[in-house]
Order: sequence, then structure tokens, then C-alpha cells
Amino acid sequence: MLILGIESSCDETGVALVESDGKRVPVLLSHALHSQVEMHQAYGGVVPELASRDHIRRVLPLANAVFAEAGRSLADVDVVAYTRGPGLAGALLVGAGVACALGAALGKPVLGVHHLEGHLLSPFLGADPPEFPFVALLVSGGHTQLMRVDGVGRYEMLGETIDDAAGEAFDKSAKLMGLGYPGGPALSKLAEHGDPLAFKLPRPLMHSGNLDFSFSGLKTAVLTQARKLGDDLPTRKADLAASTQAAIVEVLMKKSMTALKESGLNRLVVAGGVGANRLLREQLNAACAKAGVRVHYPELDLCTDNGAMIAMAAAMRLDAHVQTANEDYAFDVKPRWPLAVIT
Ligand code: KG4
Ligand code: ZN
Repeated sequence: MLILGIESSCDETGVALVESDGKRVPVLLSHALHSQVEMHQAYGGVVPELASRDHIRRVLPLANAVFAEAGRSLADVDVVAYTRGPGLAGALLVGAGVACALGAALGKPVLGVHHLEGHLLSPFLGADPPEFPFVALLVSGGHTQLMRVDGVGRYEMLGETIDDAAGEAFDKSAKLMGLGYPGGPALSKLAEHGDPLAFKLPRPLMHSGNLDFSFSGLKTAVLTQARKLGDDLPTRKADLAASTQAAIVEVLMKKSMTALKESGLNRLVVAGGVGANRLLREQLNAACAKAGVRVHYPELDLCTDNGAMIAMAAAMRLDAHVQTANEDYAFDVKPRWPLAVIT
């Protein structure tokens, strides 16, 4: 079974081909990506209408590229999968519209995928796929969640952010330090030259006794510190970046370890854009080694949004018989869509 996957929920257009024999873990044949980061940079964040228009321009050339790379053609496709939500409504409509148009033209079924399920299952695209059950730390630009995952479609929310996501904390802190958009990678790069103990920043909800997160207070503390520094900010920026990163990472690491302990599971999957963060990986690796926990990450280039994870999630849902692809091309999209409600 050959699955074409299309991702267009935010500022990356991703297309991929995944093949499944129904027995083993599905295999990624090819994937192609176009990031709109440069286009949105001038505005300091994603401009939804520009995002939708750019997805329209990119999606078919990217599809041609993945067919060429895999040595396959449109006629070989068995199922067309697309991101149904959550995300920007207009951006989602492009991927859904293209997927359903292709499905209708080819007479092939389509399947709408939950974007976060894509992230959650993205470590299965790597050389060291996890086994169920596991605890998942989902850390993207819009979400921060700890889930218990017993199988495909068997997701139990253990805790989530009550305000900003971890990626947002990186991005907003970076923005107020003048590091541009998206700030996560820039902030973590700058942090390499800074002292993580230079500034005492809060670790919100670290000892709350539950697995929820809160990052908006941290962002305010970074703002206060930046204002206090005034003219000294440029020379102390690396220290502030390192202290900010240390605070975010420590909370993510501690809560993940608590989730593992409370659930009695000994496997952790980390997914979403912030999963690319080097300090987070170092700290989780060290803590998990000590606790006898196996930890799995997606390949670095598949941590942020991509089409491969969408094709993979569709393949795994079909293989696990939790969903069937259908020939109803009257699609809708779900800009808001909690992961815990899907099965
Ligand atoms: O999963 P993702 O690509 O998009 C969403 O679904 O939201 O995540 C994007 C987020 C952004 O907030 C970005 O700043 C953050 O991931 N990010 C990082 C790093 N790479 C991406 N944050 C910290 N360190 C990184 N190396
Ligand atoms: Zn994402």
C-alpha cells in the first residue's frame, strides 16, 4: 500500500510517500519540504493568508519531487492522506483540498490525519522505532502535552500546558531578545555561549504535584530581566538565552520523568519541534539512562512539521484497523481538535 501524505497546517508545506506491507513498520520512501520561515520573518510571525497562498504554490511541485525521488507515479498511490487539523484553517484547507481533488481524480480513498498524532508517531520513521506502550512528550510550537500511548489511537492525556506551549516560550523569549522568528533554534544556538546559571528564572508548576505545565510566567520573567538589563542586554543576551533554555528544559525533563515513574512505563518518546533542542535531548538522555528508561526521538529533520509523519500516521492507522480511508471527498478541516478525543 502506497500512501501519499500532505502537511499544510502552518508554515511548512510537506509531502511524502510511505509504503506499508501491513506487517512491518511502514517505510518512508521519500519526502520533500518547503519552509515559509523566510517569508514570514519580515512580520515577526506567521501571517495566515500568506501561508495559505504559499501552500498552494508549493504543494504540487513538492509532490512531483517525491514521486521522482521514489521512482513512483501518481497512478501507484493507494491512499491520499492529509492533515485535517489542528492548525490554521486556510492553510489546512489547501492540503485537504489538494488531497481530496487528487483522490477524486485518481478514484482513490483519502484519510484526514491529526497533526499531533503525526508528531507522536514520527519516531517510527527512524532507524530505532519504539514499541508500545510509552509515555510521549509532545512539544511543538502550539502544544505541550504528556500522553500515555498504549497503541495507535489509544492516547491518554496525562498533563498539558495551561497557557503557553514550550515552543511558544522559546519563540516569545527569543522575540523579546531580538532574535527573530521562529526563535527556538536561534535562542538555543545563542545559549551555547551563555551561562545557564547567570539569571534565576522561575520553573513554573515544577512542584505542582500534577503533570501540567505553564510557561507564560516564565516569558514575563524573561521580559522583566531583559528590561532590567537595559543597555547591558546585548552583552548579556547569551546568558539570558542560556538561563531561559535551562528553565524550560528542566521543567520538561522533570515532568517527563515523573510521568514515567507514575505510569510505571520504561519508554519515552519525544516529538514536536522542541524535540530538536540539544539541551533537552542531553538532559533527557542522562535522566533516562539513570532511570533505566529507553528514549526515542524522531530524526532531527523530522522533528518539525513534515509530510512524512502524516503519511506514517495514516499508514499506521490503516494497518492497526482503527480507521479506514474513504471516498467521500466532501472534506472539512478542524482548526481546533484535541488529540485525546481521537481513537
Ligand atoms: O512541531 P513544530 O514544527 O510546529 C508545530 O506544530 O507547532 O514546532 C515548532 C516549534 C517552534 O516553536 C520552534 O521555535 C521550536 O519548535 N523549535 C525549537 C528548536 N527547533 C524548533 N525550540 C528549541 N530548540 C530547538 N532547537
Ligand atoms: Zn507541528
